[in-house]
Amino acid sequence: MAKLNPNSPRSPFPAILSLLFLSLLAGCGEQEDWSPLDGPWDPNHPDAEAILQAPAPDAPIDVEMAEAGERWYRVRGCLACHRLDDEDVVGPSLKGITLRREYDWYRAMVLRPDSMLQNDPIAQELLEIYRIPMPRQGVDDLRVRAMWEFHRQLDREAFSLEGR
Ligand code: HEC
Repeated sequence: MAKLNPNSPRSPFPAILSLLFLSLLAGCGEQEDWSPLDGPWDPNHPDAEAILQAPAPDAPIDVEMAEAGERWYRVRGCLACHRLDDEDVVGPSLKGITLRREYDWYRAMVLRPDSMLQNDPIAQELLEIYRIPMPRQGVDDLRVRAMWEFHRQLDREAFSLEGR
């Protein structure tokens, strides 16, 4: 029986095919891993600093930003613990969050839930109710701002609010 020579030259086709396959996969991954930072308001945008400020209560909804926020909210898995209707699952539903919290509080809670749970009385009250500490989410400022815009949009629709 002929011995298989491990060094024998192999056809390049399987390698090429698997490269093609991998690049296809990477292409899909890119879409799934879509980030709002790809939008026009990336951190290097000249207005990035202004964008990060709390929006004025009567500021019109930035629809593009709200869309980015919605996608990020879903991609990041917030929905696993926070629904957007009247039901609580692991954590509180975030319906009406723009009415019960200030933006700066939301921002701190999403960026650093661990230190909020240690230091902030509202976060501690929530922990007493929900019993599970919200884990740190690894999101950045711009994405947090975009998710807030998404909540503003939802809350305006849900509560028929003008000027919020
Ligand atoms: C593993 C579950 C889990 C995930 C994932 C999660 N959270 Fe939470 N979150 C909680 C829990 C539980 C609380 C209530 C406070 C506590 O017990 O830590 C909470 C509290 C909050 C609050 C305060 C709610 C209120 O009524 O004031 C906000 C805002 C929030 N989370 C936003 C987010 C966002 C945005 C994401 C995604 C980036 C996210 N959370 C991902 C579990 C989670």
